[in-house]
Amino acid sequence: MTRRVLVSVAVAAVASCTSAAVAADGAQIFSSTCQACHQAGGVGAPGLAPPLVSPILKNAAARQKDYPVMVVTKGLTGTLALADGGSITGAMPPQQALADTDVAAVVNYVFHLNRTTAAVKAADVARIRAAAATNEDLKRLRLELSK
Ligand code: HEC
Repeated sequence: MTRRVLVSVAVAAVASCTSAAVAADGAQIFSSTCQACHQAGGVGAPGLAPPLVSPILKNAAARQKDYPVMVVTKGLTGTLALADGGSITGAMPPQQALADTDVAAVVNYVFHLNRTTAAVKAADVARIRAAAATNEDLKRLRLELSK
């Protein structure tokens, strides 16, 4: 009897922890890991980092959710055309300290900033990490998403 109660309390605690953690974590991970470059709300900073609230990310949410996961896990370098007609030449290092669940949470937060409900899962991140993709592949994909 006592044992059964303890088990169900433990299960309930784990369940509520997990869902609260996913909701809170994306914003938290963003502010500790991405915001120094991409700024609060993902508005970007000229010459430093592109905006993450953009037609590219909106299109990614609708058509190719892998794109931001690829950027976060593999990094991105070179010159990017921006929606405002400008461009940025920079390098984003792969965010190797983030676990698959962290990457999924922070990418979902970026989708949320773009006012979409698109979502990726940790399993998607694991699949994308394991797949080879060059910087040129990412640039080609981004070009597709700019149309
Ligand atoms: C050290 C600064 C820095 C940090 C930290 C950083 N980024 Fe970036 N990010 C950049 C730069 C610079 C680029 C553009 C790279 C280029 O010019 O090719 C970029 C590009 C991107 C892009 C592609 C945007 C587009 O328009 O195609 C995404 C998505 C992105 N970052 C997400 C993130 C997320 C999410 C995090 C946190 C987990 C993060 N970045 C952390 C600097 C950073």
